[in-house]
Amino acid sequence: MDPREQPQLAWREEIDDAEVSVLHAAAFDHAVEHEPWGERLERHSLGWVTARCGGELVGFCNVVSDGGRHAFLVDTAVRPDRQGTGIGRELVHRAIEECRASPARWLHVDFEIDLGPFSMTDGLFRRSTAGILEL
Ligand SMILES: CC(C)(COP(=O)(O)OP(=O)(O)OC[C@H]1O[C@@H](n2cnc3c(N)ncnc32)[C@H](O)[C@@H]1OP(=O)(O)O)[C@@H](O)C(=O)NCCC(=O)NCCS
Repeated sequence: MDPREQPQLAWREEIDDAEVSVLHAAAFDHAVEHEPWGERLERHSLGWVTARCGGELVGFCNVVSDGGRHAFLVDTAVRPDRQGTGIGRELVHRAIEECRASPARWLHVDFEIDLGPFSMTDGLFRRSTAGILEL
């Protein structure tokens, strides 16, 4: 794969469970767990964005929904060897664009405290306080 190749982005593209499991594990630095991504996305997602270079999955994010006004951006992940090349920003911008065309009115996101990835969103999100509990 040419590292300079521009990724192709798609919304709600069919995915393979294994490729998303591998990408997620690499990006979030955990052991690969083969999860039923396809079934889960079809059931719970408003949509998801994939980024591919030469057919290989190099980026992914998921927008889950309450079926109404609220959507939540989760699992933004870029393959480590392609991080820092703008793919994360493209994924987030594409997800926002697709959400604007949907019935959702509010897109929620949270980031780790280092604040860094917030720059991916170019200030589009207004900061709010939120809570999270590991169950
Ligand atoms: C966070 C992540 C999705 C960013 O994707 P990426 O393709 O590397 O990001 P981009 O190249 O589009 O960078 C966009 C901006 O965010 C900044 N940025 C990205 N990741 C950052 C980080 N971890 N810390 C600080 N800044 C970061 C970049 O410097 C860039 O800012 P700039 O254009 O002002 O220089 C990617 O690094 C990743 O998969 N990380 C592991 C999983 C993760 O933490 N996901 C986020 C869940 S909250």
